[in-house]
Amino acid sequence: MDGPSGSGKSSASRGVARALGFRYLDTGAMYRAITWWMLEQGVDLADPAAIAGRAGEPVLAIGTDPDAPGVSVGGTDVAAAIRTREVTSAVSAVSAVPEVRARLVAEQRALIGDGDIVVEGRDIGTVVAPGAPVKVYLTASPEARARRRNAELAGTTVEAQRAEMARRDTLDSTRKADPLVMAADAVELDTTELNLDEVISEVLRLVKERT
Ligand code: C5P
Repeated sequence: MDGPSGSGKSSASRGVARALGFRYLDTGAMYRAITWWMLEQGVDLADPAAIAGRAGEPVLAIGTDPDAPGVSVGGTDVAAAIRTREVTSAVSAVSAVPEVRARLVAEQRALIGDGDIVVEGRDIGTVVAPGAPVKVYLTASPEARARRRNAELAGTTVEAQRAEMARRDTLDSTRKADPLVMAADAVELDTTELNLDEVISEVLRLVKERT
């Protein structure tokens, strides 16, 4: 499941994984965890070479249970810390660095293993798992995405949220390394007018049809 922020990927991916009895992998949480660590270490995030030089250092552990995925860095639970505004606004600079991506893509492939897993991110259908039997690209109008994210993050206006998401999407879609782009064989699903149950049902229908 790929798509921009606020398209409903996380809730939908977890719901689909639960319904199928599959594992679930949030690859965004891995980029966020590395970003959290870089900020903790005081790495200059305006300097891609500095990020690249330390990309291999943090020890990540991420769970694949859709009910309690969990993520830690060097043994510290960072599940809440990676959702702060500070990490959210810094993550695109870190995820654009090829050394970071190479490391995480390899870890993601190892976690995927033989499959029976729902994986969400930006480059899953194009780079991480190009042979996935079902690829869904979720979209939603900018207004719907900002509203959803704003409901999750107290303390921002919908307008500020929309501006921040637009900035992150532009960075994610225009970077050289593995940009956010829909795979040629993905099914695009616009969730603007759909509720969560409807999105999950539609994805389950695709899974049934294609596997
Ligand atoms: O999905 P989420 O919003 O948590 O992702 C955080 C950031 O991680 C994205 O904005 C993007 O920069 C990066 N990311 C990525 N590739 C992925 C998943 C996330 O570059 N597969």
